[in-house]
Amino acid sequence: MIPVELIGKKRRGGELSPDEIYYLVDGYVRGDIPDYQMAAWLMAVCFTGMTDAETLALTRCMVQSGRVVDLSDIPGVKVDKHSTGGVGDKVSILLAPLVASCGVPVPMISGRGLGHTGGTLDKLESIPGFRTDIDIEEYRELVRTVGVVMAGQTGELVPADKKMYALRDVTATVECIPLMAGSIMSKKIAGGVDALVLDVKTGSGAFIRDREGAVELARTLIGIGEGYGKRTIAFITDMNQPLGRAVGNRLEIIECAECLRGRNIEDLCALTLRLAGAMLFLGGKSDSVDAGIRTAKDALRSGKAYQKCIELVRAQGGDPSYIEDPTRFAPARVRTEVCAGESGYVAAIDNRGIGIAALAAGAGRMKVGDAVDPAAGIVVYKKIGDAVGNREPVATVYGSSETRVDDAARRVRAAYTIGVDRQEPPRLVYCMMDAHGYTEYS
Ligand code: URA
Repeated sequence: MIPVELIGKKRRGGELSPDEIYYLVDGYVRGDIPDYQMAAWLMAVCFTGMTDAETLALTRCMVQSGRVVDLSDIPGVKVDKHSTGGVGDKVSILLAPLVASCGVPVPMISGRGLGHTGGTLDKLESIPGFRTDIDIEEYRELVRTVGVVMAGQTGELVPADKKMYALRDVTATVECIPLMAGSIMSKKIAGGVDALVLDVKTGSGAFIRDREGAVELARTLIGIGEGYGKRTIAFITDMNQPLGRAVGNRLEIIECAECLRGRNIEDLCALTLRLAGAMLFLGGKSDSVDAGIRTAKDALRSGKAYQKCIELVRAQGGDPSYIEDPTRFAPARVRTEVCAGESGYVAAIDNRGIGIAALAAGAGRMKVGDAVDPAAGIVVYKKIGDAVGNREPVATVYGSSETRVDDAARRVRAAYTIGVDRQEPPRLVYCMMDAHGYTEYS
């Protein structure tokens, strides 16, 4: 086969066979197909899409590019959750220990920051000592002994995604349903899960902004999951404003530590509990999602989830004293407040703009291999529907360089729209979907 022919076929909207997709993905992983050809093919996929058969073939090739973990000898239904990515989305850091503390094993494979969104691995690595490069033996051992692991896809697990994810991040090829579906599901399947909960984001800070696109992505993800025999539940959730208050690696860890110790950050805790309810239901620990939510609430309130988080951090080499006392984190060198230029109500937030502002402050990567600044990020004080006075702070930007922090602050200011009339805040969860149907929430 000739790569340029396959790129051209996709550019013209043709359907590639499983063999042709395998040739490209396998060649790329082995280094025979260079970045520029893979980038051109990915861009062609963004423009012309993929059939369900192509998306499934892509997922299979990606799974086969590495090893698949076998967790069948570990008791219990192993359940993971994946988010399609958002701004301030730190749910995994609360959710994985919470669900594990209720007795459902959670083998979690997470990603790095992608585009304007943060990544769970980058956030976790801001805890001193925390290791996410876990090999398969240790991964299995952590699921067996701690009941939870939060790892990155190493060279062993889905190397195709590791390489393609990094390339997509810097070539504007992230916002594409089949590429996202292949990337997400290959990691989950290789991670050895039995069942999966998906948080599909929609809104200005999501990769797929419109509701119809989010539903289509959820349908594609559920189709792949069920095709592999994994029970899959998806929620379509709001991403029109940051989730919680903090955006940026260390800031998000601090927010999670506070929630695990009893602080109620409303949207963050409510979404975490909803997803936990679904995981406990799929894990056979409750009869319904609602019953699972009640169990999860008890675990959060009683400190069981907090204790499990401490255990997880310690087991992966991190220093748990930073979770016990987040004031131990060194403060960012530079900080600046962003104030409203008029009084009124927050009418809208360009959430992608907030994500890019965090990136500009240093919380993400501009190109493959860049280091992230763990201290950089934003804390927002005002969300949609909140009243704001003239010159009142709406956010604080943190970072290590004045130039970067000033640039980020300018972007945060531009992301806020203040209006005269109060807007209703967006609904947090729009609907739940599984292989049998769709339940709309009011
Ligand atoms: N999350 C992933 O794991 N992959 C994507 O492509 C997008 C979000």
